[in-house]
Amino acid sequence: MDARSEMLDLIRTRKYGYSLPQPFYTDPDFFKIDMELVWYREWLFVGHNCEIPRPGNYFTVQIGAYPVVIVRDRSGEIRAFHNSCRHRGSRVCTQAKGTSAKLVCPYHQWTYDLDGKLVFARQMADDFDPAAHSLKPVACENVAGYIFICLSNEPADFQAFRDLMEPYFAPHNLSDAKVAHEATIIEQGNWKLVWENNRECYHCAANHPELCKTYPEAPNVTGVSGGADDPEMTAHWEKCEAAGLPARFHMHESGQFRAIRAPLLHNAVSYTMNGQPAVRRNLTDIDTDRIGALMLFNYPSTWNHVLKDHAVTFRVTPISATETAVTTKWLVHKNAVEGVDYDVENLTHVWNHTNDQDRQIVEENARGILSPAYEPGPYSEVHEGGVMQFVEWYAAFMEPRLSGKSSSVHLKEIA
Ligand code: FES
Ligand code: FE
Repeated sequence: MDARSEMLDLIRTRKYGYSLPQPFYTDPDFFKIDMELVWYREWLFVGHNCEIPRPGNYFTVQIGAYPVVIVRDRSGEIRAFHNSCRHRGSRVCTQAKGTSAKLVCPYHQWTYDLDGKLVFARQMADDFDPAAHSLKPVACENVAGYIFICLSNEPADFQAFRDLMEPYFAPHNLSDAKVAHEATIIEQGNWKLVWENNRECYHCAANHPELCKTYPEAPNVTGVSGGADDPEMTAHWEKCEAAGLPARFHMHESGQFRAIRAPLLHNAVSYTMNGQPAVRRNLTDIDTDRIGALMLFNYPSTWNHVLKDHAVTFRVTPISATETAVTTKWLVHKNAVEGVDYDVENLTHVWNHTNDQDRQIVEENARGILSPAYEPGPYSEVHEGGVMQFVEWYAAFMEPRLSGKSSSVHLKEIA
């Protein structure tokens, strides 16, 4: 049986409410299928537009086999291109970020304008057509300060996500923020284990002493009900909405993304050790107190916590069947001054520790799953509804694509 058939069979025969069979977390062939059907097809968060505020600013990312450059062009538009020269394929931009009036390939100096057009190629044949050798574009969308790309030539619909995200995020002015700090960690675990761990707080009390000072471990915050039956939660939504902040739990029917604004514990207003603000200058002009955390996830690439004074954004990048990079960025008001309005250690303390703790538990999870004795185990319906939701989304997403029943499957590409 080939890997696709085996994966489809295991999806169809898996036990509902149980973790996935071993190959989903360990097998390089399954990982390749995940890349082809999920990561090379879906919209992926790659960075913030405030990271490239001026024409010529760019950053690069690597999604599986694809190097991509994201650049602000002369007109201010953000564009993405395959970072592979149209001459002999060298990477054109070799740095993680930079600024350049034109994109110049380091190999033979073919030179591209910021809109991707080839403007210089030395001593080519008379019939050489520069117009046929522009950098290949990658679909790119900018929503509320977040840049998403899609590697597919036929990108999935983005409008439903934009419609959900924009009203929640607009009041936080993240287009006008700055990245105060960023950190990337590599977790020795499959990307789905990173997500499963993210989607529950069953592990929080025992593992996250810093986060638990302010973040509620109540399952309705991470789960699937959203807390509509919890009077504290609904009172919070009403208070925020009266102040002009969309707050109610909203999950897209596909289960791929959701937003909710949840209160923090006690009198906390920020993810700090004492619950006090980490930044003196707020992101939002809304002056209502205790607006809690706006949380958004979009499978497979990002989860987010947006507070009144700062935002913490997370990007997931799979590296191999058993390695995943997690990049965290702390955003503050663009005019907030380090050392005056915020202290980086205070700003990043809780999530730096939390990330490292999550890395350790994901890695232990991954090591245990490698055992020949591993078998899928039952999730707690009380605490792990979010994990079950993620696994169900994944299974429902993969099944039609593997069986060829999805209209969005390009059989030629996945054959
Ligand atoms: Fe880019 Fe030759 S490979 S100029
Ligand atoms: Fe955690």
